Amino acid sequence: MVTLVRPSSKVCNDTPANVGPITIQWRGADSARTPGVRALALTDAQIPDRYLTMSDADLDRRIESARRTLGSDLVILGHHYQRDEIIKHADFRGDSFKLSQLAADRAAAKYIVFCGVHFMAESADILSSPSQQVILPNLEAGCSMANMAQPDDVEQCWTELTSMIDQPIVPVTYMNSAASLKAFCGRNGGIVCTSSNAVGVLRWALERGKKVLFFPDQHLGRNTALRLGYRQDDMQIWTPRRALGGHEAAEIQATTFILWLGWCSVHARFSTEQVRWVRENYPGVRVLVHPECKREVVDLADESGSTELIVKRVSESPPGSVWAIGTEINLVSRLANENPDKTIVSLDPVICPCSTMYRIHPSYLAWVLDELVDGRVVNRIAVDPDTTRWARVALERMLAIQ
Ligand code: 13P
Ligand code: SF4
Repeated sequence: MVTLVRPSSKVCNDTPANVGPITIQWRGADSARTPGVRALALTDAQIPDRYLTMSDADLDRRIESARRTLGSDLVILGHHYQRDEIIKHADFRGDSFKLSQLAADRAAAKYIVFCGVHFMAESADILSSPSQQVILPNLEAGCSMANMAQPDDVEQCWTELTSMIDQPIVPVTYMNSAASLKAFCGRNGGIVCTSSNAVGVLRWALERGKKVLFFPDQHLGRNTALRLGYRQDDMQIWTPRRALGGHEAAEIQATTFILWLGWCSVHARFSTEQVRWVRENYPGVRVLVHPECKREVVDLADESGSTELIVKRVSESPPGSVWAIGTEINLVSRLANENPDKTIVSLDPVICPCSTMYRIHPSYLAWVLDELVDGRVVNRIAVDPDTTRWARVALERMLAIQ
């Protein structure tokens, strides 16, 4: 049985203003998109008009034909939150950690087309060789959480912290951040983490420092520190652009974790009421959430982990298993369709896709691939050499941790 959403399902319309409301009807294998969705996904288009009016079948044909022409020169990476119409063309799919490893390992490919968001493409550029080129099909595909940590604000925070604290502080940035912040961590004895290795990375940081500055996702920072046995009292939230992040000096001096005031608008929606509701209505359900969810949701869930862990748990579970999943809806929908012998429900009755991941539409993929076939590289993501050097230091520290 495939049940994706509860009968009362509504549609999320609080996506960023420049995207507009996304209306999607999700019903297991028959998920249907309203005609308006495509237009909305293409709002910021800088692509030739003909790609906007091409049929889905024509777009698929162009993409497949370009893949055949480019052969081993091309690798297409797809994050788990990408829509099915993109994932079907990806050579590999994964979470941000797995995709960064793949980008580092695919030396044969001249072009890495990254179907994900901007910070992922930047990391791929940093980790791949200088002869490779990374392409993000739609340059408008960013991450609202990554934007919550602006480099100037992090520098200001660091200046304030290091001028008042004598003990070593280790900066840790979540993968969901600008390349310049990864470089900041590389230069300052810090490291990058993803949702799949945050526990190991925080251990690494605490072996080297007495305090950790964690940005931009307060929830991943808090959930991971709690997993390591720390208490809520060991953490303080840093509010950017407020003196000492909004604290007295004594509070900052006493704390172990300084957590940036950042969050993911998709994962912040999940609530304890939703977890209770699925437990009452789906006997035997296992609740599996992403660690970007709030602490109380993670506490009530059976398990939390990266998108790759969510895929693994559900795929490896026996037929008849019942899962309620707290993560982005394209992934939940795909899991439901690919596991018809299991019951898979979204924890949130209000469907809220990641609006920036959604900006990678097949029209953009077809366009960037057609351009490559014609010998032109469009939408290249190229990080400058100094940023690359230091961001690579922080990323390689992360890749060395198992
Ligand atoms: P993963 O690394 O778990 O794929 O998460 C990336 C992300 O952006 C989650 O919102
Ligand atoms: Fe960023 Fe949230 Fe989208 Fe992940 S789901 S890419 S954290 S906005």
